[in-house]
Amino acid sequence: MASETIVSGKKSANPDSAESAAPKRVAKALLDWYDSHARDLPWRVGPKARKLGKRADPYVVWLSEIMLQQTTVATVKPRFARFLKRWPTVEDMAGAPLDDVLGEWAGLGYYARARNLHKCAVAVAKRGSFPDTEDELKTLPGIGDYTAAAVAAIAFDRRAVVVDGNIERVVARLFAIDTPMPGAKPEIKARANAIWPDLRSGDFAQAMMDLGAGVCRPKTPLCLICPISAACDAYARGDQEAFPVRPAKKPKPYRKGAVFALSNGRGEMLFERRPEKGLLGGMLGLPGTAWTAGEKDESFALAPVKAEWARVGEVVHVFTHFHLTLDVYVASAPKGFRKSSDQQWIKPEKALLPTVMKKAVSITQA
Ligand code: ADE
Repeated sequence: MASETIVSGKKSANPDSAESAAPKRVAKALLDWYDSHARDLPWRVGPKARKLGKRADPYVVWLSEIMLQQTTVATVKPRFARFLKRWPTVEDMAGAPLDDVLGEWAGLGYYARARNLHKCAVAVAKRGSFPDTEDELKTLPGIGDYTAAAVAAIAFDRRAVVVDGNIERVVARLFAIDTPMPGAKPEIKARANAIWPDLRSGDFAQAMMDLGAGVCRPKTPLCLICPISAACDAYARGDQEAFPVRPAKKPKPYRKGAVFALSNGRGEMLFERRPEKGLLGGMLGLPGTAWTAGEKDESFALAPVKAEWARVGEVVHVFTHFHLTLDVYVASAPKGFRKSSDQQWIKPEKALLPTVMKKAVSITQA
């Protein structure tokens, strides 16, 4: 159906899509699903208790949301329990020495978060309670857009549009948003806003999180059990995993170099250990030139010895950040050659080599 949504955009081919279906239908389907499938989480007031009038404690919601940033639910669960046992209220945390809070945070990373946690507890204790609007929440230390929306929605049932990574994925698929990330963020927020219900805002936020975590998974989403698949544009197109669209990869630069395979008369080749720091650090390799972006160095200045070097070909290898082409030269060690202390004679088949060096050695033996 044609519906007035807050966002305008291209028309979708899917007649049931979230764009054309009444956004309310999507919200209702998701909330109905949440009523029977909500995860039981220690910081959560589930849908049944919520309907009986139980409200979430803003301190608990805030604490869990800060802990869940960059940390998984499984890791947070036991740590959250310890925090709450030690400091059951925001006043308790505010009264604790900062070092105790930092100590309890140990291992959770991003220590600025723990400092801000304490600072925020002090500020809230001073003002008497948590504010209940997104704008006021954002004035507190360590509370950014996401946390303010999450606390406003989950603790106070304010209509606040909460967008974390899971929700981003759900919305990007629902509307098949083809703008690459992170540029799609404003559109995702606008689309989320268009389907966000006025009532049960906190449950809706948590329903979206649960859907993203358990059904609309990054890989192999479980669309057959998804309560909103009928409205999902990505599902209709059959390319759910293509969304959110990843940013275009920057083309990899090309580098060139040369390696020198020196043989002795005993079936051995001269190898040297690469410096500990840097690419292939500490691994064995053939002696060679630096791998540069410009023209290859034909000077042989870095060859292990003056000899009759013959080019036997080149190898190409793709590293994470660049393509490498290595010219491979061979020679027999001249009489009187003495290797340096960081070099060793090894039978090539016995040398533990990184792939690019294995490729180079193999063309010397072709
Ligand atoms: N991840 C971040 N916040 C969450 C919440 N409130 N419930 C489940 N997962 C979350």
